[in-house]
Amino acid sequence: MRRLTLPLAAAAAAWLSGATVPSAQFFGMDPGEVLFGECRDCHNFAEGAGPGRKAPNLWGVFGRTAGTVPGWDYTPELKGSGIVWTETTMDKWLRNPGAVVPGTKMDFQVPNDEQRELVLEYIRNADLAGYVRAIQGLK
Ligand code: HEC
Repeated sequence: MRRLTLPLAAAAAAWLSGATVPSAQFFGMDPGEVLFGECRDCHNFAEGAGPGRKAPNLWGVFGRTAGTVPGWDYTPELKGSGIVWTETTMDKWLRNPGAVVPGTKMDFQVPNDEQRELVLEYIRNADLAGYVRAIQGLK
């Protein structure tokens, strides 16, 4: 099981030392975007784009029912899960996908609370209009 780690040793050291602001910011980068780079190994994240190398396009994920992006061959387990992606459901998912949907093929975890928050914030802000539409639809 692979786990998310910051690519920059200095940033990792700052994190371990308990700094609340990851030092990726020091380099002028959004730390959530840096962390999301790991998701991009498998996922695509762009409007109207096809799937990534190993996983579906995550664009517009908030408010969507799990396993519904056309053209991606999901596991029956994820498709049948009935999950709707919100910050709450995605937070649990990213902590440990296999615990939320046993049998899923997403073999990646983000065990660190702060890192999950940063990644979710990045995804939300990248398409803020879509996110607002999603939460309005979910109310
Ligand atoms: C090693 C490859 C890999 C990495 C890295 C990865 N994922 Fe995934 N992800 C997958 C696969 C494969 C699926 C589809 C799982 C299934 O069908 O059971 C998936 C599914 C998902 C879904 C559900 C999508 C949908 O349409 O229902 C979300 C949300 C998600 N991943 C978010 C993330 C985020 C955020 C990250 C980075 C923190 C990430 N993933 C990192 C492989 C990966």
